[in-house]
Order: sequence, then structure tokens, then C-alpha cells
Amino acid sequence: MKIAVAGTGYVGLSNAILLSQHNEVIALDIDQHKVDLINNKTSPIVDAEISDYLANKELKLTATTDKHLAFTDADYVIVATPTDYDPEKNYFNTSTVERVIEDIVAINPQTQIVIKSTIPLGYTVKLRETFDFDNIMFSPEFLREGKALYDNLHPSRILIGRKSKEAQVFADLLLQGAEKKDVPILITNATEAEAVKLFSNTYLAMRVAFFNELDTYAELHELDTKQIIEGVGLDTRIGSHYNNPSFGYGGYCLPKDTKQLLANFSDVPNEIISAIVKSNSTRKDHITDMILSQNPKVVGIYRLIMKEGSDNFRASAIQGVIKRLKEKGVEVVIFEPAISESTFWNCRVIKNLSEFKAKASPIVTNRMTHELMDIKGKVYTRDVFGSDI
Ligand SMILES: NC(=O)c1ccc[n+]([C@@H]2O[C@H](COP(=O)([O-])OP(=O)(O)OC[C@H]3O[C@@H](n4cnc5c(N)ncnc54)[C@H](O)[C@@H]3O)[C@@H](O)[C@H]2O)c1
Repeated sequence: MKIAVAGTGYVGLSNAILLSQHNEVIALDIDQHKVDLINNKTSPIVDAEISDYLANKELKLTATTDKHLAFTDADYVIVATPTDYDPEKNYFNTSTVERVIEDIVAINPQTQIVIKSTIPLGYTVKLRETFDFDNIMFSPEFLREGKALYDNLHPSRILIGRKSKEAQVFADLLLQGAEKKDVPILITNATEAEAVKLFSNTYLAMRVAFFNELDTYAELHELDTKQIIEGVGLDTRIGSHYNNPSFGYGGYCLPKDTKQLLANFSDVPNEIISAIVKSNSTRKDHITDMILSQNPKVVGIYRLIMKEGSDNFRASAIQGVIKRLKEKGVEVVIFEPAISESTFWNCRVIKNLSEFKAKASPIVTNRMTHELMDIKGKVYTRDVFGSDI
């Protein structure tokens, strides 16, 4: 098979590598730097498996910025370009997906298109009508950043939205590249597959929001959150996982996918879906209030990243806290090695950790780390279990 992949971020690159073990894959991006790195067998993102596979495995993978080279003769084209929630339109901005599909249909009208980008409900069906092109399926992506290829090598499920033999063939290609072989395969209608993605992420967000509200209660009543969560989790229907309190759910996917699902619910009676989005904002208000209750002169923010080991801080919850602190006129300084600039949102970025620790109190961190153990007494965190799983 010849397979093209548009977009070489977490989703596109991990799928390109997975499939290039057994197929000829051409990865397309508009970012020449990323293309050069991939062709030099270097990962543009922090991901142990991606780095390892690029450096050490025999892959039939090339990257390019030339869409004709990528799309011509491809049996399948995977679309993995960004879709961002647009707060003005109250809907996903899907323009990159549309632009890429327009090119694919013009260059290679025989191909099968697989959308991996997260999209609103009903979008695939609408696209088929708009482009008068039936061969479009939606295959939701369930990976975690930093474990993108690992999660594709060990998928929880393979889900393809389009009841057709081409969908089954594509599912088999994903399974062929995976290390785990007992993977449930689901072939559904496109809109149902879109719904699985948005409802899954919203369920995860609900779980985070639930344990965060539990923690808010415990904090305000001076109770031990850890004891409560451990006791709650021992019910096997609840489980002792994905339960560590935080400053809110964040990252690239949960904030935008919950808002998108809520937008899809505009004419559907609901309480929970809207409450999840609201709860995340309320949590950040509460965290801010607790920091302000210490009457701080300078608040130190240790890392902007959402999770340990991450190399980006897209929509991390701490940024919502910073925004609230700034609105109250509090001076905020930041320690974030991933930033080369000297300021972030008008807050000074301090490069030297010792200087940072000396300058601010409290030091606020979403996750506790050994680097802060020497000043433990002035750290503010709600991290109970030291893990994000
Ligand atoms: N990151 C995740 O954890 C995750 C998980 C599941 C689903 N998703 C969804 O998958 C999609 C992609 O996410 P990501 O994290 O891989 O994004 P990303 O921002 O890491 O990568 C997107 C890539 O697409 C490239 N690109 C933009 N426009 C392009 C175009 N016209 N042609 C070719 N390339 C183009 C960008 O240069 C970038 O390299 C989004 O819709 C996201 O919601 C992401």
C-alpha cells in the first residue's frame, strides 16, 4: 500500500511510523523544519518510542512539503491536521482539514480519505456532500501526548467510521503495525465514530472534574483528600486510577473537545455536559482563591506544562490560574525551561531555579517534583498521588 499522512504532529507522525513498518508512507507537512527532522530520522516531538523507531527501525517513511508527491497514487490519505475550538463561533475551526481534503480530491479522486483529526458531530457526512466524495471515513485517535506511538502500538480499540470493506482494510493495516494483537475493532457509521471520540474525552474530563471537586471540598473542610479518594476508588466500579487532583483538566484535547460536545448539545436537554465545562473554570477560581488567601507578594509558577515529561503547554490548566492571579494584580514569576523568552504574558520567566525559589512564595505547581522538595514548606499543589494516570 502507499499511504499519505497530512500533518506530522503527535497524531500524524505516530500513525505514519506505525504504518511505515509494512507500507510505503509519505508524510506531508507545511513545516519544512519538521520535514527535515523526520527525513534525518530525528523526532520533532518528545516521545521515546517515536525517537527510537525513527532511529532504529527499518521504516519506509519519507516526509515532504509537496502535496502532489504525497497524494498522487496513495491508496489511503490520513488527515491529521489541527482542529482548534473557536470561542467566537462556539465551534471547531476545521479549516485545515477542509483545505487538505480539497487538495486530495483534486489530486487523487480514487483514494480513500481517513480523518484522524478530532471533528464535530456530523462533520464527515457533511464533507461527503460538500465534496461530492463518498470515500471519507473518520477514525478517532485515542493517543496521549508523550506516548503517541506507544498508544498506537498498544491501542485500546481501533474504530473506523464508515461501514465499508475499505474501512476493514484500514483497520487491518493499523492492527498489522501494532504490537498488541488482541485489539477490539469496531466499524461504525461516521457520526457515531465522531461521537465516541467526543464522549470519551468528555467522560475523562468529567472524572477529572469530579475528583477535583472532591478535593475542593476536602481542602475547604481540612480533610485528607488522599484518604477519601483511596476509599472511594476501592469500589471496583470506580477504580484507583485517573483520580489525582489537579488545577483542572487541560492540554490540547480535553478543553476543546468538551466545549465542542457542549456546542453539539445546544438543542439537546442536558445538565452534566455543561456542568463539566463550568466545573473546570470553578476549580481554577478555587485554586486562585487558595493562593490569594496566603496574601502573596510574588507567586512563583513552577512549569507551565500539563504533565511531567511533556514538551508543550498547550491549554494547560495553570495558565487559567495565572490569568486569574494577574487579573487580581498579583505579581507572577515563572520557571519554565521550555520557554526561551524572558517573559510570558508579561510575567518574568526566571531561568535560574534557585533564584526562582528565593524570589517567590508560594511556589505553585500542578505536580510535586523532587526539584522542589527543599522548599516543600512554601509549595502549593493539590498533587496527592504524584502521577497523571
Ligand atoms: N495531541 C493529542 O493528544 C491528540 C489526541 C487525539 C486526537 N488529536 C486530534 O488530532 C489532530 C492533530 O493533533 P496533533 O496533536 O497531532 O496536532 P499538532 O499540532 O501536533 O500537529 C499538526 C501538524 O499539522 C501540520 N499542518 C497544519 N496544516 C497543515 C496542512 N494544511 N497540511 C499539512 N500539514 C499541516 C502542522 O504543521 C503540524 O505539524 C487535532 O484535531 C487533535 O484534536 C490530538
